Amino acid sequence: MLIEARGIVHRLGERTVLDLPDLTVDAGAHLLLLGPSGSGKTTLINILTGLITPTAGEVRIDGRSMSGANPAARDALRRETIGMVFQTLRLIPALTLRQNLSLAQTLARGRSDAAEAATLIARVGLAHRADARPRELSQGEGQRAAIARALAARPKLLVADEPTSALDDANATTMVDLLLESAAAQGSTLVIATHDRRIRDRFAHTLELAA
Ligand SMILES: Nc1ncnc2c1ncn2[C@@H]1O[C@H](COP(=O)(O)OP(=O)(O)OP(=O)(O)O)[C@@H](O)[C@H]1O
Ligand SMILES: [Mg+2]
Repeated sequence: MLIEARGIVHRLGERTVLDLPDLTVDAGAHLLLLGPSGSGKTTLINILTGLITPTAGEVRIDGRSMSGANPAARDALRRETIGMVFQTLRLIPALTLRQNLSLAQTLARGRSDAAEAATLIARVGLAHRADARPRELSQGEGQRAAIARALAARPKLLVADEPTSALDDANATTMVDLLLESAAAQGSTLVIATHDRRIRDRFAHTLELAA
């Protein structure tokens, strides 16, 4: 079991923003998180990745406790097992796209692989922008770059928050293809939060959060 979330409840002040039935996802399986704006998709992703601590409940990732771990152990668990694509891009501004991928490979796997980085950059349709810096990319290009960077780390768990929100239909389809193919090749588990109905029918396992 790659993800095990039991009894997760999250409150902010008086409001319960998340009250989740037990959730388990096997290694290599995928989960699509659906729900309207404000339903708690990003909150759940932040809880699964240990960026916030739930008010109640336990999260285990790859058999290790995330919610119960101290900050250093959480950082280690996240670094070793999780790749993230955020709603706001987290590419390093001073580095080109190619350098961002190289750094991601080095941090996750101890070495860079220029050929693989170039392949990923080409797969997201950015070969002509490989030496551009993040601020020189359009929103959709930036989103594709962030997906390539996350895949470069070959994480066991790849978590993406609205990865297709800035993409047109053709690019959204390409991105979902790329995520599914890469996950299959790497044996990764995908968790994708979206309100993008275009990608819904590509996933067998969906969790719909209520408004
Ligand atoms: N730091 C915070 N303080 C107070 N309320 C918050 C905070 N973060 C999130 N919320 C509230 O928690 C609820 C869930 O937010 P969340 O960001 O998880 O929704 P979402 O499903 O990701 O929405 P979207 O589709 O718009 O990204 C919302 O009502 C939001 O206003
Ligand atoms: Mg969100």
